[in-house]
Amino acid sequence: MNVKTENKPPKTKANEAMHPQVIGEEIFASDEIKKRAYYADDTTLIFHMEVREALHFLKEQNLYVNCIVTSPPFYGQRDYEEERQIGLEEHPKNFIEILTIIFGLCRSVLADNGSLWVNVGDTYWSGKGQHRSGEAKQNARRFGLRPQDRKGDGKWCVPKQLLLIPHRLAISMQDDGWLVRNDNVWKKPNPIPDQVRDRCSVSHEYVFHFVKERWYYFDKNPVGRPTESGSILPPQDTWEVPTVKGKRNGHSARFSEELVRIPILTTTPPRGIVLDPFAGSGTSLLFARKHGFRCIGIDVKEEFCELMKNSLMEMADEEERESQSE
Ligand SMILES: C[S@@+](CC[C@H](N)C(=O)[O-])C[C@H]1O[C@@H](n2cnc3c(N)ncnc32)[C@H](O)[C@@H]1O
Repeated sequence: MNVKTENKPPKTKANEAMHPQVIGEEIFASDEIKKRAYYADDTTLIFHMEVREALHFLKEQNLYVNCIVTSPPFYGQRDYEEERQIGLEEHPKNFIEILTIIFGLCRSVLADNGSLWVNVGDTYWSGKGQHRSGEAKQNARRFGLRPQDRKGDGKWCVPKQLLLIPHRLAISMQDDGWLVRNDNVWKKPNPIPDQVRDRCSVSHEYVFHFVKERWYYFDKNPVGRPTESGSILPPQDTWEVPTVKGKRNGHSARFSEELVRIPILTTTPPRGIVLDPFAGSGTSLLFARKHGFRCIGIDVKEEFCELMKNSLMEMADEEERESQSE
């Protein structure tokens, strides 16, 4: 399936990349896979597992995907109250190392001509320690939990320092063999204002586009910019997308469907498979399904797997109602 293309002439490789193979039903819907899935139907698989365990399992099953789009936990931002969660490592270096390993595993289930898209935001070191108010709830949230509130290493973990997590991650990924195609900037027109007086208020995050090889599937047409002459230019690398406010049944860190639009529509071939290894409320899965792709979601938290399952089933019911009324 994941045919190696190393020794083929460039013209053949470029041509093959634009006509990628996709996994057949016999693998996607195998009994072994269905048995381990939290939810499975003809177009969707949800795994309630730790991400590394799930990726090893998919690899063992020879299940390859065409597009991976994800937003891992950001450093020091949230406690998902799961023992094997990532994001609260003592030092940002450990966080970068773990993410690079996880994306290395993603690489082993990504077709050679596939793409990996990673949405990641940054974190400031605070070094504030215990919350001064002495209020129990604030202390529980901040002290001992958020790594950036601790004393720091006196080098780059010092108060007021922007940790440059997205850039450090991209460099670590390059060192690990990925090709970086874009550091797309997600510009938020409606950010929550930072409570600061001595720097600019942050209103962007990054969506990195990584590939395994020089030749990969990319179709600019569904999201391109038409010119007067009738040709189509690729989309630009700054994306103005409003943040989603409020929780979807308890998930407060979800991203907007608009953010996965360019990644999924440009790099998933017809009937291709989209994987989100930190799927949360399932935004990428819902978008993929709506556009006729198959999808796989992984999350360590059962509550989120249930949430994804319910949202997908609601969508399927709606589609059914619409098709009956036509
Ligand atoms: C930023 S959220 C993803 C939000 C998602 N993009 C959405 O739109 O809802 C990160 C997710 O990673 C999950 N997570 C954290 N550590 C994990 C791990 N080790 N294995 C699998 N999932 C993990 C969390 O439960 C959380 O749902």
